[in-house]
Amino acid sequence: MAAAGAATPCLHLIFHHHHRITATLRPFSAIHHHRLSLLFTRNKHRSFSTSPEIETPRAGRSGSVSSPPVQTVDYVEKIDVNPPKGTRDFPPEEMRLRNWLFNNFREVSRLFGFEEVDYPVLETEALFIRKAGEEIRDQLYCFEDRGNRRVALRPELTPSLARLVIQKGKSVPLPIKWFAVGQCWRYERMTRGRRREHYQWNMDIIGVPDVTGEAELISSIVTFFKRIGITVKDVGFKISSRKVLQEVLSLYSVPETSFAKACIVIDKMGKIPMEEIKKELISIELSNEAIEDLLEVLSMKSLTQLEEKLGGSGEAVGELKQLFSLAEKFGYSEWIQFDASIVRGLAYYTGIVFEGFDREGKLRAICGGGRYDRLLSTFGGDDIPACGFGFGDAVVIELLKERQLLPEVPLEVENIVCSLDPDLQGAAAIVATVLRGKGQCVDLVLENKPLKWVFKRAARINARRLILVGSSEWQRGMVSVKILSTGVQFEVNVDELE
Ligand code: HAM
Repeated sequence: MAAAGAATPCLHLIFHHHHRITATLRPFSAIHHHRLSLLFTRNKHRSFSTSPEIETPRAGRSGSVSSPPVQTVDYVEKIDVNPPKGTRDFPPEEMRLRNWLFNNFREVSRLFGFEEVDYPVLETEALFIRKAGEEIRDQLYCFEDRGNRRVALRPELTPSLARLVIQKGKSVPLPIKWFAVGQCWRYERMTRGRRREHYQWNMDIIGVPDVTGEAELISSIVTFFKRIGITVKDVGFKISSRKVLQEVLSLYSVPETSFAKACIVIDKMGKIPMEEIKKELISIELSNEAIEDLLEVLSMKSLTQLEEKLGGSGEAVGELKQLFSLAEKFGYSEWIQFDASIVRGLAYYTGIVFEGFDREGKLRAICGGGRYDRLLSTFGGDDIPACGFGFGDAVVIELLKERQLLPEVPLEVENIVCSLDPDLQGAAAIVATVLRGKGQCVDLVLENKPLKWVFKRAARINARRLILVGSSEWQRGMVSVKILSTGVQFEVNVDELE
């Protein structure tokens, strides 16, 4: 569209009903200007056509000023009604299920004395960039904002937690016990239970150096599983410690800087060919001998075997034994097993690491966590011992589906209030307000509807009572109450409604 005149064009949008928008692009100084008419309709096809509707200049009354020529472009758009790939809508029934799940996250966190926190979904990109070659780095949704700042949608909550702990400094007494339920974004290859957006329940303990921290965290996840009907037959926890790797690598004088990288490579075992794993380990200065030894240790599934290899005096074996002993006291020994192949894919873990797994082996990790005693110093803070876990909303829902444990979470509005006469709509509003004031949920019928419709709606919202406002009763300050489960009907004074 060639704009007449040289001035900056400005766009005028005129909104009409039925999705029609007329946009007029007007160069400020143009005598002749073009009109762009954009029509958004809900037609099947999207087309962008320049209509031949070009108005010729008409002479004004005076004959001196001419109307501009108008070029109208019809723009017919059918939007994609699906959310972006890997993301979800939460229509009411999905939202009820989500609330049910989150309420359980929150209730369990409170049972353990944790306080809820949250952070922005958008953070500075630098917060998530670590040098160890993590997968999470390649999956980052990042961009430059309008102020030329590099920002990212959070792929996890732990770096934000560390940022906030540093920011609060000594004003928060230790130990900190915080939980959060927040949305995270990862540009991930989609598999069952893995999406590009998910919600994560996190519980973290800052300021406790002992494995009592990890033991408490695992206890809270077990409590959660039990609450939602998942048993020890369905899931378990695989537990190890990064100190196991550290102790093996220290035998071969592997540089400290290679440690996190080695963990990230080892976490890929089973996901990429073994040859690739070996190549990557060699590239971070591990000798063939060290690799062989490492692989042998990683295949261990018993603590006794590990103790034979590493001796009983090291931290790795000591802490793992302490954790297993505490598990007995908490009463979840059956849920946990030692598995040296667990290292987790995040660079910052330094000690115990664990993941929740589905015993049928159909699903990816249900949750994961561990100790990260040195994350704070990577952000310039003083290190404080810390441990925590992340528990996603998607895998557990798949698990509940698998085990046919997905709950029905019905809509429940206790009362439905309806006037029998359009003139009594105001009276019905009074009744609804009285009930709501007493903490009762009320669906107020807002239009004059036949009783058949009202009963159908009452059934859909699982109302317990139907309250009818009819003129003869209302004149006496009364309403009719019908208990929907029994059909029993009686009159009640409005003020006595409970
Ligand atoms: P993570 O192992 O990367 O750890 O993720 C924790 C959990 O989040 C996973 O086990 C899974 O349930 C869920 N999750 C992760 N990515 C996805 C995805 N793309 N789709 C669906 N669910 C997903 C962390 O994020 C650590 N920050 C956890 C932590 C907290 N460690 C210490 N404190």
